[in-house]
Order: sequence, then C-alpha cells, then structure tokens
Amino acid sequence: MTDMLVPLYKLPPAKPVAEGIVIRRAIGPEMHVVCDFAEKHFSRNWASECAVAMAAQPANVLVAVENGKLLGFACYDATAKGFFGPTGVDEAARGRGVGAALLMATLQAMRDAGYVYAVIGGAGPIEFYKSQCGAIEIPGSTPGIYGDMLR
Ligand SMILES: CC(C)(COP(=O)(O)OP(=O)(O)OC[C@H]1O[C@@H](n2cnc3c(N)ncnc32)[C@H](O)[C@@H]1OP(=O)(O)O)[C@@H](O)C(=O)NCCC(=O)NCCS
Repeated sequence: MTDMLVPLYKLPPAKPVAEGIVIRRAIGPEMHVVCDFAEKHFSRNWASECAVAMAAQPANVLVAVENGKLLGFACYDATAKGFFGPTGVDEAARGRGVGAALLMATLQAMRDAGYVYAVIGGAGPIEFYKSQCGAIEIPGSTPGIYGDMLR
C-alpha cells in the first residue's frame, strides 16, 4: 500500500452530506465508543490509532452521527504528524457520502491546524482519494512507516 499526498491549499468544496447526518469533532467521553467501533468494524490496530487521536485535546477525530448512532470516523495525526487516517464507515452506511464528508471535514481541520499538505498513510482505496481530494501517490512510499511495526 502506498502513501498519498493531498495539497490542502486547493481542496475542492465539500459536497453536502445526506440530511440527518452530522459530521463533527469527537470529544473525550466518546473515546471508548470510537475505539470499540474501529475494532468491531475494522481492526485492533485501527482502534489503537483512534485511541492516540482521541487523546489529543481537542480530539483529532471527526465522527459521522445519525440519530445518535456512529456511522463512521476519520482521524488525523494518529500514527504520525500530518497523517490522515485511519477512516472507516460502517458497511451498512456506505455509498451515502459519509466517507467523503468525513474526509473533507478532516482535511479542512488539518488545514486549519496549519498543515499545507496531508499524507494518507498506507492508502487503501486509491481511486477514492484521487477523485475526492486530488491525492497523488508518493513514489517509493511502500511499505512506509507501517513496514516493520509490531503485530
Ligand atoms: C472508503 C470508505 C471510507 C468510503 O466511504 P463511503 O461512505 O462509502 O464513501 P462515499 O459514499 O462518501 O463515496 C464518495 C465517492 O467516492 C466513491 N468511492 C467510495 N468508495 C470507493 C472506493 N473504495 N474506491 C473508489 N471510489 C470509491 C463513491 O463512488 C463516491 O463517488 P461519487 O462522488 O462519484 O458519487 C468506505 O468504503 C470504507 O470504510 N472502507 C473500508 C475502510 C477503508 O478502506 N478506509 C480507508 C483506509 S486508507
């Protein structure tokens, strides 16, 4: 998996998310909810990254919520400064613009924090990032920082 680079100074405008879905920054008391969600739907590694991002003040985690239910999350500055991710949407909620809305809100938060570029570490759906935020692949970035991590 390759890393990707996103220029934050020319982010495309965010598309509206479906009615009733709120995209907002998570708060500390939600840490266990976000981490449990990440572990249940994705992996323990992602739950660990969520814990790191949730421990920042304010939390470096954006969440998508509908009727009090967590649909998805996106982190930044979790594994490394300037890194976007991990991000994930409940399989049942995919295809409704939630992933794109979380991506754009998080990239905007990174822009507001002073970053000029964001790195998508170990990008999964490359075409998603290319189409949604103009990300480009970083040559020679596989396996990147995750290459020799403990498992
Ligand atoms: C990737 C993911 C976050 C997308 O969430 P989503 O809510 O289904 O995405 P959206 O509905 O916001 O899709 C927005 C657009 O991206 C496109 N898209 C979504 N997933 C895509 C994928 N895997 N590959 C290419 N394009 C994709 C959609 O077709 C849509 O296109 P449009 O703007 O032309 O309509 C979600 O599929 C997911 O959680 N995947 C598993 C975890 C993962 O891979 N995370 C990324 C790790 S780097």
